[in-house]
Amino acid sequence: LIGTRSLTTEIPGIDKLEAEAKDNIRQGIKAYDALQKIRAAKPATSGETSQDVATTEARSSFEDIGHQLGYALLLKRYVNDPRQATEEQIAQAARDTIPHVPTLFWSFRIMVGLGMFFILLTTVFFWLSARRQLDRYPLLLRVAVFAIPLPWVAIELGWVVAEFGRQPWIIEGVLPTAAAVSNLGAGTVLLTILGFAALYTVLIVIEMTLMIKAIRKGPDPDEKPEAKLISENLVPAAE
Ligand code: HEM
Repeated sequence: LIGTRSLTTEIPGIDKLEAEAKDNIRQGIKAYDALQKIRAAKPATSGETSQDVATTEARSSFEDIGHQLGYALLLKRYVNDPRQATEEQIAQAARDTIPHVPTLFWSFRIMVGLGMFFILLTTVFFWLSARRQLDRYPLLLRVAVFAIPLPWVAIELGWVVAEFGRQPWIIEGVLPTAAAVSNLGAGTVLLTILGFAALYTVLIVIEMTLMIKAIRKGPDPDEKPEAKLISENLVPAAE
C-alpha cells in the first residue's frame, strides 16, 4: 500500500531488482554509445555520407533507449568509459542500486513505531485531559517529558529512509549521485558547516536562556485560566 498505493501490484524482491538493474545497465551502455556517436558526428555537409547514416542510426537508437542512459553513468564510479566496463563492474554497479538493507529496515520501522507511539500518547492524553485526570498519573507525565525529543528522532530517521533509501540516485533511473556531486572544495563545505554550527549554537543559547528564565519564574499562582476566560466572556460563569 505504501509502495504502490495498491493492494495487488507485485513488489519485486531484491534479487529481481538487481537482475533488472543489470539489464538496464547493459541498455544504458548502448544508450551511452549512441550518445557518444551523436556527439562525435561532424556537422552535416552536402550529400549523405556513411557517417550521416551512422549518426541517424545512433539517433534512432538513442530515442529508443536514451532513458536508460543514467544506468550507464552508474559505472562511472568504476570506469571512465562505461563501454569498457567488465562483467564484474556491471554486476557491482547493479549491486550498488540496492541500499544497505538493515539501515533502511530499522530506520523505517523505528520511525513508524514512533509515529504509532505518538498517536497512542496523544489519544491517552486527550482522553485524560478531557476528563481532567492528567494529574492522577505522574508516570505518564514523565513519559510525556521524555517523549519531547522523539519527534526529532523520527524526523531524522524519516530523512534517512528518504535520502539513504534512494541511493545511488539523485533522480531515480536518471542521474546517479556520484555524477551529481558538486565541485565545491572540502574547505568551502567545511566553512559552510562551521557557519551553520555557529548560527545554530547562538540560537540554542538564546532559546535555552529564555526557556530557563520562564521555568524559573514558574506559573503565576494568582492566574486562574478559567477566571480569565469568564472575565473575557468566553465561557459562562458556573451557577
Ligand atoms: C506513523 C507512521 C509513519 C509512516 C507510515 C511513515 C512513512 C514514511 C515513508 C513511506 C517515508 C518515505 C517517503 C519517501 O521518500 O518516499 C517517510 C519519510 C519521512 N518521514 Fe515518516 N512515517 C511515519 C511517521 C513519521 C513521523 C512520526 C515522523 C516525524 C515526526 C516522520 C518523518 C518523516 C520524514 C521527515 C521523512 C522524510 C521526508 C522526505 O525527506 O521526503 N515520519 N515516512
